[in-house]
Amino acid sequence: MALDRPKVPNDLSAFWMPFTANRQFKKAPRMFVGAKDMHYTTADGREVLDGTAGLWCCNAGHCRPKITEAIQKQAAELDYAPAFQMGHPRAFELASALRDIAPEGMEHVFFTNSGSESVETALKIALAYHRARGEGHRTRLVGREKGYHGVNFGGISVGGITNNKRMFPSLPNVTHIPATHLKENAFSRGQPEHGADLADELERQAAIYGGETIAACIVEPVAGSAGVILPPKGYLERLRAICDRHGILLIFDEVITGFGRMGAPFAAQRFGVMPDLITCAKGLTSGVIPMGAVLATSAIHDAFMEGPEHVIEFFHGYTYSGTPIAAAAGLATLETYKEEGLFERALEMEEYWGDAVHSLADHPHVIDVRNLGLIGAIELEPIAGEPTKRAFSAFLDAYEKGILIRTTGDIIAMSPPLIIEKAHIDQLVGTLSDVLKRVH
Ligand SMILES: Cc1ncc(COP(=O)(O)O)c(C=O)c1O
Repeated sequence: MALDRPKVPNDLSAFWMPFTANRQFKKAPRMFVGAKDMHYTTADGREVLDGTAGLWCCNAGHCRPKITEAIQKQAAELDYAPAFQMGHPRAFELASALRDIAPEGMEHVFFTNSGSESVETALKIALAYHRARGEGHRTRLVGREKGYHGVNFGGISVGGITNNKRMFPSLPNVTHIPATHLKENAFSRGQPEHGADLADELERQAAIYGGETIAACIVEPVAGSAGVILPPKGYLERLRAICDRHGILLIFDEVITGFGRMGAPFAAQRFGVMPDLITCAKGLTSGVIPMGAVLATSAIHDAFMEGPEHVIEFFHGYTYSGTPIAAAAGLATLETYKEEGLFERALEMEEYWGDAVHSLADHPHVIDVRNLGLIGAIELEPIAGEPTKRAFSAFLDAYEKGILIRTTGDIIAMSPPLIIEKAHIDQLVGTLSDVLKRVH
């Protein structure tokens, strides 16, 4: 018999919440107890419109029947199979389904449980690949300022968000190229005009350290967590060309941009730039079950397939790499995206979404508005001496008014489920308009 639990637990002290202002939260908890399609239900019975697809992940919307049923069925049929030296059908099927939607040439899939693990895995694949080819001197990794690549040591090392880095030592041999956030691009629609030349910093670093010492360069095609920083026109192409010149692997961290957010399966396809490795997670299972993956080209994968056949080729993996329930959720999610044409839908909605988000440009304190695919950001002027406070107040007020937005620093980011209707966009942006008119 199911336990009848209280909607709001009496004791909130034990749970140390991630990336949360714990003391503020526990004084005035914001609890979700249910969800369906575009909405959450709060503990006090209110409906909240999901403007963020959970945490950039519930791309198919909430509690979608196909995904729920697939998980229930799999849990009853094969709950777990060892991930090492044993297999089960769903993981192979999901890997094939991913290959089918991935950019051409991305033929192989390594499963993980999160975006952070995908990043660690990709960095290790890059280093080990060069070593397998007799280029073990390529040990340098290049990330980007303001980049977010999860919270593990590799990810924070190549990442460029100061608060995530300052308490911890970094990996050695890591450098960064500049973020593509330029004042002259403020209020751009879609990809901004200025800044393709910021990619040339990679060329400069190749000149300083020797291009042949650099293993990989990792970037988010569109930086999400730092507050939505877009790639200027021509920037990613230039990065690709520099990587090619020096034999550097290009890793696209598509944990946010994957699975339709950019109106294509992956941002690589939207921008027409092919990386060597793609990291993904979140939308892979529409956020329902933790799962991530690294997609690799055959050239990379095949470099590992050497030596005696009974020997493990890559000493890496997780107990839950491609676990049956996650794989079943992933398959049902990809089927949902396909059956409902959700990637195409995101592209169709982009213009309406962009118009709506940019209608906030003249609101108080707004210093920039950015949009691409089904992502939108509104940057607010910080309160002098109290950075983040203005946007956080807007977040709390928005929640009270029935919409879920997300803030980083003084930037409001929105990334709704791809099933969003025009009426939802009107509600989201209309409510945010009221919030911004009142925020101090
Ligand atoms: C680009 C990128 N990489 C990695 C991660 C980390 O993913 P996770 O929180 O699943 O570890 C995120 C999470 O937002 C992300 O946006």
